[in-house]
Amino acid sequence: MLDIKITKAATLKAKPADETKLGFGKIFTDHMFLMEYTRGQGWHDARIVPYAPFILDPACVVFHYAQEIFEGMKAYRAVDGTIQLFRPDCNAKRMQDSCDRLCIPTIPVEDYIQAVKALVEVEKDWVPHTEGASLYIRPFIFATDVGLGVHASPTYTFCIIVAPSGAYYAEGINPVRIYVEDEYVRAAPGLTGFTKCGGNYAASIKAGELAEEKGFAQVLWLDGVEKKYVEEVGSMNIMFKISGKIYTAPCTGTVLPGVTRRSCIELLRDWGYEVVEEHVAIADIMKAGHDGTLEEVFGTGTAAVVSPVKELDWKDDKVFICDGKIGPLTQKLYNTMTGMQWGKIPDDKGWIVPVCKG
Ligand code: COI
Repeated sequence: MLDIKITKAATLKAKPADETKLGFGKIFTDHMFLMEYTRGQGWHDARIVPYAPFILDPACVVFHYAQEIFEGMKAYRAVDGTIQLFRPDCNAKRMQDSCDRLCIPTIPVEDYIQAVKALVEVEKDWVPHTEGASLYIRPFIFATDVGLGVHASPTYTFCIIVAPSGAYYAEGINPVRIYVEDEYVRAAPGLTGFTKCGGNYAASIKAGELAEEKGFAQVLWLDGVEKKYVEEVGSMNIMFKISGKIYTAPCTGTVLPGVTRRSCIELLRDWGYEVVEEHVAIADIMKAGHDGTLEEVFGTGTAAVVSPVKELDWKDDKVFICDGKIGPLTQKLYNTMTGMQWGKIPDDKGWIVPVCKG
């Protein structure tokens, strides 16, 4: 159990006037959570303080060797006014897995959840009231030791910031175009693909920029060895409905184990769908697109929620999905996930964790 000291900001920022124009991760609130780690002492000095820049030595390990990991979560304002989280234990455990791979000391699950809840409660007035918007939560840990030797830092900072946000994609819930990346790779066995380390995202930016220039929302990554099998999109996992079955890449080290991915798989199985977590070749997906058996394609992610895909472009080939519309199963998943998150439908899975009254 953390002893969290709270220092309130002397003046509060104005809240966004129009919650339909929040964008994603652009506006930050009045406070942040901080806690430091020192080897020999452990995590200490848990506190909520006014949101402010860090002062860091230019020789900090994180700037040079990217020893850093993060999480992504949301707080929702339910229709009955409760401010609530979605499966925070899954994020806490995933952060521990990321920490372990990056040689960063872990934070106990209960402490992580306590820290998130404490900050959300302090910032509860920032949780948007508008449907489709939420308070995006970004916990992250970075190495703070000073020196240029490549080694695990003996000191770290854990910080949580929160941002009232709308849809991740400019398209909102409208279907997006995805470019299947054939040159660059995101992950390979033994590397860090299953973690949320900043380096994975840094390595993905070039392909993302090139795809955006061509009018695509994002790239779909293929496996890093043969560039043959579909893996994930970087900001979301991806699922393909082919002849009534759902296919998605397995989480065997190169794919991020998404909390939304896992939740959608559980819902789909409850609804009687067969979900196949296996490597599927992009050539087979494109073939299904041409022979009419590729019924729906959608991404799943905390930021992306459930995002329909209307087009896949691979080399010189393209397939169009569901006539550019949101497929019925994609819509049902979106409605069920957001229905639970916004307290419009009962949570019979025990996934919702209330924080406070809004
Ligand atoms: C999330 O979905 O929370 C993520 O961290 C993905 C990020 C690229 C926005």
